Amino acid sequence: MCPPPPPPSIVTDTESDLLARIRVHGAVPRHIAIIMDGNGRWARERHMPRPFGHRSGMKAVRAVIEGCLEAGVEWLSLFAFSQENWQRPETEVSALMALLEEYIAREAAELRQQGVQVYVHGDLDRLSAAAASAVERVRRETAGGERLGLNLFISYGGRAELVRAARLLADEVQQGGLTPDAIDEQAFRARLYTAEGPDPDLLIRTSGEQRLSNFLLWQVAYSELYISNVLWPDFDRAALYEAICDFQRRDRRFGRVNT
Ligand code: FPP
Repeated sequence: MCPPPPPPSIVTDTESDLLARIRVHGAVPRHIAIIMDGNGRWARERHMPRPFGHRSGMKAVRAVIEGCLEAGVEWLSLFAFSQENWQRPETEVSALMALLEEYIAREAAELRQQGVQVYVHGDLDRLSAAAASAVERVRRETAGGERLGLNLFISYGGRAELVRAARLLADEVQQGGLTPDAIDEQAFRARLYTAEGPDPDLLIRTSGEQRLSNFLLWQVAYSELYISNVLWPDFDRAALYEAICDFQRRDRRFGRVNT
């Protein structure tokens, strides 16, 4: 059976006011990364099982993608499932994997139409055959999207990504394609999953927690941090635009002084 059509995109007054402010100010972050946190607490507040919170979080994923497209953000990185998340109860892990498959089945065509190219990064060898084939499908179907690059991090850990990059470099040295002298920040960066795009300008974490949780450890060196108290399933376009407005008020110096 075909999935139901997505609801029409509705922009509220608050959202359009915030968007107008963002546009006047001009400096929109090119790349936003988000640690989507608080699904479990959102479900608990409603006396529902944790997977109910994850399912409700999919609505917020759609909202931030649309918000980024509208505001002119070029890259969006979402932390959907960490390496550590494999240690959650089997029922929750299966529910999250099933949601990933459902998300791709429901949204791939829409994402393609919107000009979103989806990249999926992490230790994907651990995924089930069904989840791995969904990942391949969304990569294939959205290839060439030019409005927004969407990085989905699944079975991902920042330290593991750094180890992987070091191994790739070591292999190249061993095979004679690279000398140790040629290993500099640029060479290292080129072996990260995110080599294709810029580093995040803005890192948002929802639910009030103030941790990086092993997300994009290299890439967030100079990102502006924005902690939102909103639980992820309630994070909407207006919340995203508030984060962008806050970002636009920051004074980014990258270790230098302003003259
Ligand atoms: C953290 O909340 C959230 C996750 C581990 C999963 C995020 C997944 C989604 C938003 C839905 C699926 C998304 C895609 C892209 C398919 P938590 O469970 O740690 O919340 P808690 O801290 O309140 O317990």
